Amino acid sequence: MTAKTPSEKDRVVIFDTTLRDGEQCPGATMTHEEKLEVAELLDEMGVDIIEAGFPIASEGDFAAVHEIAKRTKKAVVCGLARAGFKDIDRAGEAIKPAKRSRIHTFLSTSPVHMKWKLQLEPQQVYEMVIASVTRARAYTDDVEWSSEDGTRTEHDFLCHCVEAAIKAGATTINIPDTVGYSVPEEYFALIKMVRERVPNSDQARFSVHCHDDLGMAVANSLAGVRAGARQIECTINGIGERAGNAALEEVVMAMRVRNDVMPFWTGIDAKMLTRASKLVAAVTSFPVQYNKAIVGRNAFAHESGIHQDGMLKHTQTYEIMVPEDVGVKQTSLVMGKHSGRHAFVHKLEELGYRLAGNQLEDAFVRFKALADRKKHVYDEDIEALVDEEIATAQDHIKLVSLSVIAGTRGPQRATMKLDIDGKSAIAECEGNGPVDAVFNCVKAMVPHDAVLELYQVHAVTEGTDAQAEVSVRLSELGRAVTAKGADPDTLVASAKAYLAALNKLVARRLRGQPEERRLHSTDVG
Ligand code: KIV
Ligand code: ZN
Repeated sequence: MTAKTPSEKDRVVIFDTTLRDGEQCPGATMTHEEKLEVAELLDEMGVDIIEAGFPIASEGDFAAVHEIAKRTKKAVVCGLARAGFKDIDRAGEAIKPAKRSRIHTFLSTSPVHMKWKLQLEPQQVYEMVIASVTRARAYTDDVEWSSEDGTRTEHDFLCHCVEAAIKAGATTINIPDTVGYSVPEEYFALIKMVRERVPNSDQARFSVHCHDDLGMAVANSLAGVRAGARQIECTINGIGERAGNAALEEVVMAMRVRNDVMPFWTGIDAKMLTRASKLVAAVTSFPVQYNKAIVGRNAFAHESGIHQDGMLKHTQTYEIMVPEDVGVKQTSLVMGKHSGRHAFVHKLEELGYRLAGNQLEDAFVRFKALADRKKHVYDEDIEALVDEEIATAQDHIKLVSLSVIAGTRGPQRATMKLDIDGKSAIAECEGNGPVDAVFNCVKAMVPHDAVLELYQVHAVTEGTDAQAEVSVRLSELGRAVTAKGADPDTLVASAKAYLAALNKLVARRLRGQPEERRLHSTDVG
């Protein structure tokens, strides 16, 4: 993981096409304002070239490219155009206000595209390459030419077209893997072959543009760079036609983290990668897959006990990047059923608790039981659990078990077992609703005159498996106590809250406030 001193020849230019190839994919349409927001962020992040749209495609695309051209401070603003003059003129018009502008013109060169899509002979295509690049050069000195479906193009013809494009004034030559068909070794060899065989190849920068149909867009792009390409066309979150394009965040971080084997560098401020990913996900409504490299929500999350233990001892045990380097605040140790004691204690400390001995053991056992039943255990769940653990440590009355029959065919019935000062008690009661049945059980085993003044339920976290937190207020002789109980089962939470309030009353009586009146148990078994 050691980095070499960067040299200009190893500088890889980042060409972002989120607003063109990315926006082109089904469902990813962005509004004008959203495109401006994304472009601003890309510029700030250090993207070298922003492909802002395809001006001939629609009035909206034209307007976006034009406005982005006006506003962009550092990056080159690029408009895409097919080989036709109308396309090129429209792109030229759209990029006019830019401080630095580019026209990217493309034409298919593979036999299948020429025959079926273009219905043109290779000679006609060849002539159009020259004409289109020449036309584009009338608008800007910065012209990129792409051989669409380059990876399925015959080598002689590809070299012939590339040479002609450079001669006509193209300063960047892009060899796209339009259909995501190539593999790294093959793509490496293709870029190397073109650079070596085309006599004027040293007069242009070579570019890679890989689609992810076989999941190899990033690997292919990096192979192209190793073969001498110095521009990567990519998108935030890898969005793009079909399976998408190479993900910007992945190519950037791969070259950074594995600079020992890929000694290349970019001008991207990697700390902005997470922000960019979130913005693009939000404006396109394309969610980022949880396990997505670099920017997925699990990219720096650890749940397994073994991994959490390792992470707490040394972060390099399971992390090859520092989360802060890509704009993630911190590693998250996700608390779940795979978490071990070490991580649990660490989490408690983070939340400000210091438990030891039996109290810690009990809390850990209860956390494991909760994690077995609940998909996500949030900090709030752990707080509720520990608060209850602390509150119940001295309790005289403890809930052992509860089962309830509820539903449309009443009366509702509860069976409850309590531990009262070390002795078991069982009661079975009906009620006007399941909560009433539960409370009647408590009253049957712990007769008292306290009045229920408040019963309130709320969900500790979101989701149908969220823990319910129940608050109960009991008043006795003009003094009130309030207590809470939490559990994924609302009825169990209700029982816990009621018992917690009663325990407070017992504790108060034992302290002699307001006056001692013993609670007594029945059905002691
Ligand atoms: O995938 C592709 O070939 C393209 C070209 C327009 C460069 O997006
Ligand atoms: Zn593409």
